[in-house]
Amino acid sequence: MNNEDLQQRIHDAIANPKNIGEMDNADSVGTVGSAECGDMLRMWVKFKEDAQGRKIIDRATFQTFGCETAIAVASVATELIAGKTVAEALSMSGTDLAAPLGALPPMKIHCAQLVENALRSALTPQSAAPQAAPVQAPQATTLFDQLHSGTAPEKKVKVVLKPPPSA
Ligand code: FES
Repeated sequence: MNNEDLQQRIHDAIANPKNIGEMDNADSVGTVGSAECGDMLRMWVKFKEDAQGRKIIDRATFQTFGCETAIAVASVATELIAGKTVAEALSMSGTDLAAPLGALPPMKIHCAQLVENALRSALTPQSAAPQAAPVQAPQATTLFDQLHSGTAPEKKVKVVLKPPPSA
């Protein structure tokens, strides 16, 4: 697949993103930030039991302050993981989750890893509990609200430029 095909698939995915938005009755939520670019992605997951009594992912939704690639990967990934068990979903790498789009260039691999990490955060109990906290914040219920209200879970670094020493 060449780069134009990839761009077209990403363009198609973000033109009509699937499973975007907050999920009110989610069983779990995971939020991560990318150390590489500072973008953020939150994923909500709802489980159900399949005919064999296995716990499977009913559906997943996402919100992101990420690039087009992250939106496109999250869109296809949320479709891919529906119906999978937690173990099956956890076994998928960012590359697996982005597979419907085709191979990503090296500089965009971290965008798929942002999606992978948000999914892992939502699916692993130890990270799911604290990650559920933002939903409890009464005045900031969405990722967008939180970022605008300054209650987003990412660390903020304040850079103060000092004036040059006077001669
Ligand atoms: Fe940040 Fe793609 S550049 S997620």
